Amino acid sequence: MLEVTLKHTPVLLDEATDLLAIQPGGTYVDCTVGLGGHTERILEEMRGKGRLIALDRDSESLQAVSEDLRYRSKLVSFHHENFKNLPLVLPNLGIESIDGCLVDLGVSRYQLTYPDRGFTFTEEGPLDMRMDRDQQTTAESLVNHLNEHELADIFRRYGEEPQARKIARAIVEQRRIRHITTTTELADIIRAVKAKRRGSRIHPATLVFQALRIEVNQELQDLDRFLSTTIQFLRPGGRLVVISFHSLEDRIVKRAFQLETGKCICFRPGDLCTCPRIQNVKILTRKPIGPSEKEVNTNPSARSAKLRAVERMESTEDE
Ligand SMILES: C[S@@+](CC[C@H](N)C(=O)[O-])C[C@H]1O[C@@H](n2cnc3c(N)ncnc32)[C@H](O)[C@@H]1O
Repeated sequence: MLEVTLKHTPVLLDEATDLLAIQPGGTYVDCTVGLGGHTERILEEMRGKGRLIALDRDSESLQAVSEDLRYRSKLVSFHHENFKNLPLVLPNLGIESIDGCLVDLGVSRYQLTYPDRGFTFTEEGPLDMRMDRDQQTTAESLVNHLNEHELADIFRRYGEEPQARKIARAIVEQRRIRHITTTTELADIIRAVKAKRRGSRIHPATLVFQALRIEVNQELQDLDRFLSTTIQFLRPGGRLVVISFHSLEDRIVKRAFQLETGKCICFRPGDLCTCPRIQNVKILTRKPIGPSEKEVNTNPSARSAKLRAVERMESTEDE
């Protein structure tokens, strides 16, 4: 078994735990255990009473983290699950409702550190990028089988890569000669296309790697599904806290929360509006909370974090 000697510095740790308003004896869900930073803090705040359901779709890091945390607390159970399946996971555990739920999106330090996971372009590794290695689709299968138009669309949509078409074309040309199998081969192709445009502060491959990762793991689709089904499990007064790192994720969270406040988000007039208009939650963060300057100085990867939170209303019209 792999040992976890790495530490992920949990992002917005105080803000997230304050907003979860953890009460000893409550039932909580940490949807994205990663290296267990938030999990550990939630357990501390539970003060030996209650139940914590801890999920991650990455079985490798979950196994390593759970070995350590399980023996320190009997309150937590670990599950190799995608958070989009929470509506199945909770009933299977005999849980009807929860007091709080945390989602901390993106990749963990664990996934970025080991080149064999394929997330990093700074060291050679297989073009993998699967958070859940049980799934079929890898970055290699996308890069070698999608057509030029489909690749460009992914790079543009999820990476906002200005040279999406040129990079997609260069990939298709290269793979006619040889299958592209490693992270560094792909990074070299991108670097060759982008070499003429200097001056950017980020590595030339950053945006394409981010886009491929989002597509491989269907990150936005899973978030959407999770948000549309999870709020119903919150008890009145229960809270959902989401930390995102990408503007597309934050937009999905913002819209999903607005919809649950009973507001119209389709902006169609009168009868044409299809929004449910039922207030299930109140928003606890009018504007998303970002990291302080101090946090960014000590943990630069917190830079783009945005936290949003809602609380389930005491009584709702649909009950
Ligand atoms: C930023 S890390 C979480 C870090 C963690 N809060 C900590 O303090 O160590 C994100 C984690 O979420 C997991 N993840 C991403 N999408 C997921 C999903 N749909 N379901 C379950 N886990 C997911 C990833 O595998 C990764 O381990």
